[in-house]
Amino acid sequence: MATRSVTITDNVSGKSVECPVHVGEYGAPVIDIKNLYKELGMFTFDIGYASTASCRSAITYLDGEEGVLLHRGYPIEQLAEKSSFLEVSYLLVNGELPNAAQLDDWTHSIKMHSMTHEHLSRFYQGYRYDAHPMSVLAGVCAAVASYYHSTTDIYNPEHRLMTAKRIIAKMPNLVSKTYRYQSGLPFVYPDNSREYVENFMYMMFSWPTEPYVANPVALRAMNLLLILHADHEQNASTSTVRLAGSAESNPYACVSAGIATLWGKAHGGANEAVIEMLQEIGDVKNIRKFVDRAKDKNDNVRLMGFGHRVYKNYDPRAKIIRQACHDLLDSMNLDQPMFEIAMELERIALEDEYFISRKLYPNVDFYSGLIYQALNIPTSMFTPMFALARSAGWIAQWMEMLGDGDFRIGRPRQLYIGAKQRDYVAVAQRK
Ligand code: ACO
Repeated sequence: MATRSVTITDNVSGKSVECPVHVGEYGAPVIDIKNLYKELGMFTFDIGYASTASCRSAITYLDGEEGVLLHRGYPIEQLAEKSSFLEVSYLLVNGELPNAAQLDDWTHSIKMHSMTHEHLSRFYQGYRYDAHPMSVLAGVCAAVASYYHSTTDIYNPEHRLMTAKRIIAKMPNLVSKTYRYQSGLPFVYPDNSREYVENFMYMMFSWPTEPYVANPVALRAMNLLLILHADHEQNASTSTVRLAGSAESNPYACVSAGIATLWGKAHGGANEAVIEMLQEIGDVKNIRKFVDRAKDKNDNVRLMGFGHRVYKNYDPRAKIIRQACHDLLDSMNLDQPMFEIAMELERIALEDEYFISRKLYPNVDFYSGLIYQALNIPTSMFTPMFALARSAGWIAQWMEMLGDGDFRIGRPRQLYIGAKQRDYVAVAQRK
């Protein structure tokens, strides 16, 4: 069969370039434009990279039209039902599900790296008591780079794997310290007799004066949230980690760059913004008015937790988490007026022509905040929880990029629309 290609012709110069088309396992084929500039002297223009595949990846596939999400080929629904966050992180990093011995080994290695350098604890004291936890987390994560700089050879696959283990192992520690500093609570060392999620909850919520007994319902919910957020293909924060990594930067600093990107409310910060929005709505009777504001182009209100760059169907993670949210609230017998507002808001928006025609469905963050809230996690900690989960995906994507023979520094081009060349004028002569 002939190799597929697309010919691009400049109708002014009449010059053409034939661009090969690469076909992946799933998803839209991609046009390889690497000869475009050489042959036609042109770049492509794609604000927000909406039509640009920035890399080759075998980690995650998502089909936004069909609402499909696969990690290494496994549907998210099956992983959410049957797996654990540690197993999913192994899958993302290593490419296959572990056998029993591999899982034991992975779990043991992660435990062995759960501590952070003692001096790192002092970094937290530099932050104001009310600093946003994402600013703290981005800072301390970058600080981890200082402990593993000269000893990390990013071109050594064993060092890369060790880095992945360290990041997955240390993030619960960093996140819990971020929370406890803000809350005026003493830091808690990991207890490696506990499994990963339980250890995280222990570091977050235990009191020095009381024995800590984990609530199994809360552990299940947390495990589920971590699985659902573990990776999501080339989203803004993952692309940031890859871009920083492509400059051969220290991987902990790259993850810190991912944390900074995730913070934004168009991205991971949406889970926090959803709760703020529900609080602002305050009562079921105010929903219609709020929805009208979200539809009004002269009002900058958006329905937080609605819409997605890629999903033009129900986010499959949102479907899973919606049910988990119901189960959790029922089993904990919690009266959650906010959940009632959320359900009614969802119903109204899903029947509204504005949202239907734009294919705006609830995304994973519409529900995750409600679960975190039921687990007594403060709103400002929602996005750090997301960062904890996503660090598995970030580091798997970073490893994949460095292991790819085609790896080059990421360097987009631009369409320059600024001033033409002009001469410098001394300040005294300027008008
Ligand atoms: N509420 C109201 N209108 C919306 C919303 C929303 N949440 N999202 C998109 N729209 C409208 C836009 O105004 C636009 O309307 P128009 O065609 O009349 O101009 C149309 O839908 C398309 O929107 P875009 O901004 O082009 O969509 P884009 O793909 O760039 O943005 C995004 C996706 C950022 C997620 C957006 O939907 C949004 O801001 N949602 C709310 C924030 C949110 O929930 N973010 C979490 C994303 S998931 C994650 O990161 C884990």
